[in-house]
Amino acid sequence: MQGELNNQLKIEKTTSPRVKPDYDKLGFGIHLTDHMFTMDFESGKGWHDAKIVPYGPIPMDPAAKVFHYGQTIFEGMKAYTGPDGSIRLFRPEKNFERFNRSCRRMNIPEVDAAFVLEALKELVRIDREWVPAEPGMSLYIRPFVIATEPQLGATPSLSYKMMIILSPVGAYYEEGLNPVRIHVETRDVRAVVGGVGEAKTAGNYAASMQAQENAHAAGYSQVLWLDGVHRRYVEEVGSMNVFFRIGDKVVTPALSGSILQGITRDSVIHLLRDLDIEVEERPITIDELCGYAEDGTLLEAFGTGTAAVISPIGEIGWNGRSYSIGGGQTGEWTQRLYDELTSLQRGDSEDRFGWTQTIVGAEAARG
Ligand code: COI
Repeated sequence: MQGELNNQLKIEKTTSPRVKPDYDKLGFGIHLTDHMFTMDFESGKGWHDAKIVPYGPIPMDPAAKVFHYGQTIFEGMKAYTGPDGSIRLFRPEKNFERFNRSCRRMNIPEVDAAFVLEALKELVRIDREWVPAEPGMSLYIRPFVIATEPQLGATPSLSYKMMIILSPVGAYYEEGLNPVRIHVETRDVRAVVGGVGEAKTAGNYAASMQAQENAHAAGYSQVLWLDGVHRRYVEEVGSMNVFFRIGDKVVTPALSGSILQGITRDSVIHLLRDLDIEVEERPITIDELCGYAEDGTLLEAFGTGTAAVISPIGEIGWNGRSYSIGGGQTGEWTQRLYDELTSLQRGDSEDRFGWTQTIVGAEAARG
């Protein structure tokens, strides 16, 4: 793959590196690194012209289909610095599997997953000085594809651009590991089975913004989404999958076809089972859930996602009533999962699942 990469990937390094931000005040996705990956697709020619170039704006035709019909998909992944200075990716092959699934759903040509993963590793190696070293911080990686054909017909684009950009990040939510209050959305829906809820595509996020703003105005941080047909089954929270500790087991909504197939979700299920905790992936209604909150068996709740990692939930607001969870505190299992997951990601603990890929070794990091 390295030989193929050298042949297919052109690299142009910046001559004017950007000023690095204050890593104590990173926020999320605000600062971008020195370089980016780009690759183009044209019908009849396929994906071509893969290169790593200095980060900067790209020229776009105002008629490009992405602006009008939203033909676009993205991924979110992270690189972590370990205690010895080495840099790792976490289950990156899963992101590119999902990247191609999202491409298929949005009628975008798939990419060579092995090739773009190697190109991504090269990009992170080039910008490795940007990968934060502190626990709780990481380098967020955003691969995406946009439809670029300049033509206003509502038909699949004949040209596309894939890019990967990088951003050193801290916590996604201001609350960090402090529990958030979530509001059950009863008017809008995020997705329906057969729609694009399983794909990581921009429209899912755009469609959620009004409810998100309404929740904020009502004093909540996040929206809890219900299914679009019965308006009863719990689906996701904010831009995360959701888990509930009910007594001595954990319940998470089953992948129904309208829920994102989260990689952090899958990792948390593995971690729970490894801890001999029973996990049920099944439909769960909001009535059932609030019933458990009332009778005291809903002990913990949390969301999972690459950006947010694990985000505890301390309260649910539904139909004008408020349901407290775990006294509004971060639960014991939530904290344990956060610690287990982040120490695996950083390489603090032994990688017993084979989930990490070291891309800059400790020696190279020192050199
Ligand atoms: C992620 O968790 O990586 C996502 O893509 C969610 C996004 C809203 C930041």
